[in-house]
Amino acid sequence: MNKESIIIANWKMSLNIQESVDLVQAISKKQAGAKSQTEIVLCPSFTALQAVSNALRPKSASDLDSNIAAKFGTKLGAQDVFWEEKGAYTGEVSCLMLRELGCEYVIIGHSERRGYLNETEEMVHKKVRAALNLGLIPIICVGEKFEERQNSRKDQVVANQVASALEGILLPSAKRIIIAYEPVWVIGSGQAVEPKEAEYTNKIIKNILLEFYEADLVAKVFKTIYGGSIDSGNVAEFVGQENVDGVLVGGASLKAEEFLEIVKKVEDLSI
Ligand code: PGA
Repeated sequence: MNKESIIIANWKMSLNIQESVDLVQAISKKQAGAKSQTEIVLCPSFTALQAVSNALRPKSASDLDSNIAAKFGTKLGAQDVFWEEKGAYTGEVSCLMLRELGCEYVIIGHSERRGYLNETEEMVHKKVRAALNLGLIPIICVGEKFEERQNSRKDQVVANQVASALEGILLPSAKRIIIAYEPVWVIGSGQAVEPKEAEYTNKIIKNILLEFYEADLVAKVFKTIYGGSIDSGNVAEFVGQENVDGVLVGGASLKAEEFLEIVKKVEDLSI
């Protein structure tokens, strides 16, 4: 299989600054071998972004060996962002501020934000637009709740979320966008959906994208991934699906051994 996969670690609100740096170091110490095809993105809490950024890119030349950002292509991402560039928005953080810290990616519209903070489709759309305008790669999370699935509304819910996140956004081919299908009810449950279902849903997502953009633009700009109870035991079957270009990992990304095993399983697929 020859595709460039992406593995995104969403550490949520789980680790303090020291624990975040320790995890980066544990991952980098054990990650052996040449620079891989697989892109890895770490998304710590806002408070740990600076420390993780430093740990990924040590300043002194003598630290070059431990420069895991350069060696393995490990990137930094944030878990949320605000849509304005700067101004009187107490408590918010802008795309420019995230870029200042070395972030290249940002998770937008995670179901925990939609659920606990009432983040709406309109807010998600504004954040996606801002990220694209201000040089961050959005990781747009979409997915149905359990009741929506029970009422056979899953496909429609996911299609609507994708459409409203991107509506009216013009894309030059240099941009990149990740769309993560995350069924809300399996997140953190330890029980993922069937890989075939992720493939089926990601095809629906691709079809919506094809309604908005030319096929070659869709192929260049977008990756469609899956998230929800991914671990080293199930990751290969997901990434082995044609339209699953990677994974968004929560709980299983918090332990270095398990996360590295996930990376290894994905890399073994690309050999
Ligand atoms: P999980 O979380 O892997 O712990 O299910 C995934 C996510 O919320 O992105």
